[in-house]
Amino acid sequence: MSASQIVLLDNKQLLNWSNDLCRLGYLHTLMPEDAAETAKKITSLEGIWSAIHENPASQQNVKTQMNALYQLDSRAHSFYSPYFDPHQRTISKDLIKERSAQFLQEASSSSLAPITKTKRGFNGPTCIVNYSKKDSSQSRYWTHTAVFKWTSKEEKLSGEVYRKFSASLPKSVQFQVPKSSFIDFDEKIYVNGNGILENCSKNSAELREAFHFLTQLSTSTKTPDTNAILLSEKIPGSILFDFARGPYQNLNIAQKQRLFSLIGALSLGDLIFRQSDRLIPFDASFTDFSVKGAANLGNLMIVPPKNESDFPLLYAIDNDIFDHEDMKTDYPEFFSSFISDDNISKKISDLILKCVINALQPSSFLFRKMKEEEIHQVITDLQPFLVDLETLAGENIQAGIEESIKHLQNPKLNEDFLNIPVSRKQSEMIQQQILIFQRIFKNKENG
Ligand SMILES: Nc1ncnc2c1ncn2[C@@H]1O[C@H](COP(=O)(O)OP(=O)(O)O)[C@@H](O)[C@H]1O
Ligand SMILES: [Mg+2]
Repeated sequence: MSASQIVLLDNKQLLNWSNDLCRLGYLHTLMPEDAAETAKKITSLEGIWSAIHENPASQQNVKTQMNALYQLDSRAHSFYSPYFDPHQRTISKDLIKERSAQFLQEASSSSLAPITKTKRGFNGPTCIVNYSKKDSSQSRYWTHTAVFKWTSKEEKLSGEVYRKFSASLPKSVQFQVPKSSFIDFDEKIYVNGNGILENCSKNSAELREAFHFLTQLSTSTKTPDTNAILLSEKIPGSILFDFARGPYQNLNIAQKQRLFSLIGALSLGDLIFRQSDRLIPFDASFTDFSVKGAANLGNLMIVPPKNESDFPLLYAIDNDIFDHEDMKTDYPEFFSSFISDDNISKKISDLILKCVINALQPSSFLFRKMKEEEIHQVITDLQPFLVDLETLAGENIQAGIEESIKHLQNPKLNEDFLNIPVSRKQSEMIQQQILIFQRIFKNKENG
């Protein structure tokens, strides 16, 4: 199942999928650390389950095999019991057949952790799902990838705002927003990746339990402090910080130029919607941008181009524009005076470059937990990117901003945002920011 298919499941299918993942993740915890030992153990378990599967009608055989199973792994009791209760006197042949087939399908996938916690963020927890599983009917392996994060409805809605924003730009500067589904366990609603809303009161408690269990399995020590999950397609790339250290160096000039102009376009969205936790951090009092601040290079991800004539994709992640109470009162004034500046694209580009360079200093949070030697290596790896920040980046960031500004003059732009189910206050905020933006650029055009 591909990443974008998972977010299209309905809530019942999602429950089945998450229960499968719980079982697989738990099975993994029963495996020894050593790879060879794990392989041996899986083979023995498979042997036992095959025997059960082949001869499910013989109660004696099943009992003997089950005893062998418990001897092999006494800790496994709680795991195997939902498959098969050894104390049950009569065991349904069909059930045994089904459970043993399921085990045989899943066992070989359990050697690698199917779920891990990302080390790249502070909130969440954010967990990465990545495993392959044999499909019973097709006898081939399917890779399942996804990312889920404990967050609020605001993050989901903010992502939709960025998606609309990007769609109103010309193709050459359109950035991406990961497709995602969302479950709110308080409101018991589920919204799939196509925006279809379902009442999931029947499955909500079980889904919540499954995702809590998965979060623990990911070895997250943080307890979620929200009661909602954003489930996203897993982006097949890396955050800008990691991209800059390696894959960036394989880009040709046109691809580098594209990357910087995409960054310019995204930064304009960030400014309009006051997203301060990505490229340009704000000064708390809104008197100026904090040029001493560091960008958060964990909140934008890059997918490398497939070939020489393809372009990199830029993904905006961790979008949250609605958590600022002061947005309506203080920010619009600051924003309008800032963008009234004559040379606004240069001004924004200079700010981005400063904040990105600050983020690449060893004091930045992405270096935390690195040993001295590693820090030294990372700084060396970053050199070509740092050189480009001083040379070709600026003009291309500016080009991206200018190209975007031109296309944001459409008087119908505001209508595009109206069908996002935000609150009235949030909707007013979006409308107001866009109107300010358009008024100022109209005045500039008129001299
Ligand atoms: N859709 C995704 N695909 C791949 N990796 C992701 C995705 N979303 C998040 N990540 C990874 O998880 C990290 C933390 O996610 P983020 O949403 O930024 O959480 P936080 O609010 O904790 O910063 C990101 O920096 C990135 O490395
Ligand atoms: Mg983040």
